[in-house]
Amino acid sequence: MRRTGIEGYGRYQKRLDEDPDERDALLDALSVNVTSFFRNPDVWDELCDVLRSLSDDRRRVKLWSAACSDGREPYSLALLALSDPEIDASNVRITATDIDREVLAKARQGVYRSTRTTSIADQLDPLDGYEEFVHRDGDTFRVSERGKRLVNFERHDLIHGRSKSDFDFVSCRNLFIYINAEHKLPMLRTITNSLRDGGYLVIGKTETLPEVLKEEYVPVDKRLRIYMKK
Ligand SMILES: C[S@@+](CC[C@H](N)C(=O)[O-])C[C@H]1O[C@@H](n2cnc3c(N)ncnc32)[C@H](O)[C@@H]1O
Repeated sequence: MRRTGIEGYGRYQKRLDEDPDERDALLDALSVNVTSFFRNPDVWDELCDVLRSLSDDRRRVKLWSAACSDGREPYSLALLALSDPEIDASNVRITATDIDREVLAKARQGVYRSTRTTSIADQLDPLDGYEEFVHRDGDTFRVSERGKRLVNFERHDLIHGRSKSDFDFVSCRNLFIYINAEHKLPMLRTITNSLRDGGYLVIGKTETLPEVLKEEYVPVDKRLRIYMKK
């Protein structure tokens, strides 16, 4: 309301009713975009094994980073694929989606800066030799073209958007902690319908699958919240 200079909730509501751009701007302002490269490194150790096993089949491997924020999660997948000799990165395709247009624009640039409170170098530390795939200039880190080529960003709303199809792996982490129960199930249904049978799902380490969905998955690692669709 301060940004638009509108006083009073009623007037702002009217503006929202009439102006789709303002609805988008409000949504961008409200979304929580906290993220990091290799967030929870212990989860990434296990995900490395999952990607290796998918890569074993020698066919295209389709990964989806749903609710990808500014891109550090899908780029972590890309960097892992590029750096691990047991993963064939040339067969890996990563779709990365978010509801927030602003973070997607940042994600497409693939440029990240360390600040007083955030060290990008520390975040990248779990990946040996990351400098080959992320170019550093002082406090600025640029994902290489090789890394960017593996990831395709698009806007998608997990509540109202359509399911995708035939994904081998979906990562949807640290979104459900902000979502009420009423919307969590439709989101997870969209994701479940997008996975092929035998595909993998990882959710945030402090998140849980709703009871009704548990029977559709086999836990691969309960503590790390990695599941396989039956
Ligand atoms: C806290 S970030 C998590 C980023 C990343 N997955 C991670 O774990 O670091 C949550 C993201 O969910 C996105 N989001 C919120 N509601 C959404 C929806 N309905 N559909 C898709 N993305 C959504 C937000 O815009 C935000 O970027």
